[in-house]
Parts: sequence; structure tokens; C-alpha cells
Amino acid sequence: MAVRFTVVHADARPGQDLRNERRELRAVEAKLVATSASDEAGLIENVREADGILVIDALITKRVVEAITRCRVIVRYGVGVDCVDLDAATERGIVVAHVRDFCTEEVSNHALMLVLACSRKLVWLDRGMRDGQWRESSLGAMGAIHGETLGIVGLGEIGKSLARKAAALGLRVVACDPYVEPKAFAPCGARPADLETLLREADYVSLNLPLTAETRRLIGARELGLMKSTAYLINTARGPIVHEAALVEALTKGAIAGAGLDVFEEEPLRPNSPLLRLDNVVLTPHTAGSSDHAARQLRREVGRAAAAVLAGRWPRYVANAAVRDRLDLLPAEG
Ligand SMILES: NC(=O)c1ccc[n+]([C@@H]2O[C@H](COP(=O)([O-])OP(=O)(O)OC[C@H]3O[C@@H](n4cnc5c(N)ncnc54)[C@H](O)[C@@H]3O)[C@@H](O)[C@H]2O)c1
Repeated sequence: MAVRFTVVHADARPGQDLRNERRELRAVEAKLVATSASDEAGLIENVREADGILVIDALITKRVVEAITRCRVIVRYGVGVDCVDLDAATERGIVVAHVRDFCTEEVSNHALMLVLACSRKLVWLDRGMRDGQWRESSLGAMGAIHGETLGIVGLGEIGKSLARKAAALGLRVVACDPYVEPKAFAPCGARPADLETLLREADYVSLNLPLTAETRRLIGARELGLMKSTAYLINTARGPIVHEAALVEALTKGAIAGAGLDVFEEEPLRPNSPLLRLDNVVLTPHTAGSSDHAARQLRREVGRAAAAVLAGRWPRYVANAAVRDRLDLLPAEG
């Protein structure tokens, strides 16, 4: 194959299967080079000459963006793009693409699973049985689910999918999203509410919004204080949306009943995190989006997005919309 372009994977995992990405990139005569670096200087060295960059969660900071010489596209493996400095990329006319719809059902299923696991005390009961207990201690408060209220913060793809599934279980759904039109709420069975009302009313608060400068630590001591003492916080979005120390305090004091968490301020979660010692928390290691199907689809779409821009087309999903004013590309396919 003649090689016209070099695409660099900035943080390839050992043994990562890159066949789907390579298949898509071959169509535009691009080769894929897998790299990983332990610091920013190493990362810059690896991506400096790349025509395109694929990234899982390495930080593509302003300094990295300013150091790259001919990159036209950065593609994030996933939905959230908080690891890329979008303004810096826009400034340099670099398209930041992401894959928005690859794990919507997986994440909404996971959020619902955490709601059910918290409410039905799944992990706690399972641990008790393994310790030889059979209903030896009081179950404490146990939610009914039907007739209770789920509050969804962020009514995007995942939030809407969760709302539809929750309504099927008989949950009443309220949602807060200042950026979607009022008419988007009713079709998925959600009633609009502002954040304060949602926090006061919900038995389960599910976070399904992106991490941005505006949403960082959106849920802190004040917001947790508004929640019912019987309510649960579910976070499958991004850890830093929640002030983790304030959450630990609320969980320890019993200000809220518990939490189901897939994401954390710092990942992997530190082995000495107080969250690991709390009985009223269900934890999963940032796996809400995982499934074999989602992984295959993600790899194909990442390769496809990079190939599209190298061929002079817009990818399906552009994260830095402002770059559209700076580039004249053909419309996205399909
Ligand atoms: N845990 C995982 O494995 C995993 C997997 C995929 C996505 N995610 C996270 O889930 C998030 C949501 O994904 P999505 O596909 O639904 O994205 P989306 O862009 O379709 O929806 C996000 C919604 O949040 C809303 N929003 C933004 N700021 C808000 C605010 N201050 N208050 C209320 N709503 C606000 C937006 O208007 C949008 O409707 C992603 O940004 C990502 O961080 C996590």
C-alpha cells in the first residue's frame, strides 16, 4: 500500500486490537502507528509529525496541540472529549472528532443497573450471604422503584435512553438540561425541572452530562445537601462532575442513602480511597460503556472518522463545532 498519511495512536494499550481502525485507514492510504508515552514530552515526540491522532485518554493539552506540525484530525475513542483542549485545536484548524453513539444503550443499562443495585441492596446482600448470613441484619430502607422518582441531569443520547427504560419500570422521570428544547422531554417520558427541584424531588439522581468547565464539581456539598436523605446518586458520566470529598462526607454522615459510581475524580481509583470502605456505595471501574459489540463499533468508527477528514470530508461527529467556520470540507457520509 502506498502511504500518504501517518496516523498516530497516542496511547495504545499493550496488545490493543487495531485491525478495525487499520482497515478503515487503509482506504485513504493511511498507516497507523501505535505509540504510548509516560509524559507530555514523550507524547509530543510521538505525535509531532502525525497527520491524524487517535486518543483514548492521554491529555492532548494546548502545549501538545501547539507542538504538532501537520495534524488535521484528533479522534477520541468515546463520547467525552474532556482530555482534548478543544479551543487550542480549533485555533489550529484541527477537527476533533468523537464517537457519540457507540455505547448509549450500554451506559443507560449500566446506570439503571446501579439504580437497581443500590435500591435492592444487591452488593450488600450478596456480601452478607457469602459471610454466612441469612437475613440476619435488618434490610433497612428498600426502594420500591415503581412510583419513585428518577432525576436525570443531562438529557442527551444516554439520558433519553435511560428515561425511556426507567419509565418502563414505573419510575417517574424528571430531567434537567438547559441546552435541549422543551419539546425533547415528553417523547422520552421525562418532565423538565431545574437542577434544584430535581435534586429535592428525586429518589435517584443520575448524572448523564459531559464534563466541561461549567459542569466540573456541579454536584458539591450544597447540591448533595438538597437531596433526600433516602436518595442515591448515580454517576456514569465523569468523576470530576462530583466533588468527591463532599460526596464521601454526605455518604459517611448519611446525608444521602448511597451512591452507584462508575467514574471517579482520579482514575484508576486510589487504593486508599474512602469510597472503598463505605458499605452504601456500589462501584464499577469505568466500564459503563463496555460490551463486545460497543468495542467493535467504536474501533471501526474511530478509524472511519480519521479517514474521513484525511479524505477531505467532515466526520459524523465533530466535538469542536467552531472549527466548521475555519475549514471547507465535504459533507459527512451516511
Ligand atoms: N462511563 C462510561 O463508560 C461512559 C461512556 C460514554 C459516555 N460517558 C459520559 O456520558 C456523557 C453523556 O453522554 P451522551 O452520549 O448522552 O452525550 P450527549 O452529548 O448526547 O448528552 C449530554 C447532554 O448533557 C447536557 N448538558 C450539558 N451541560 C449541562 C448542564 N450543565 N446541565 C444539564 N445538562 C447539561 C447537554 O445539553 C446534552 O443534552 C458523556 O459526555 C461522557 O462523559 C461515560
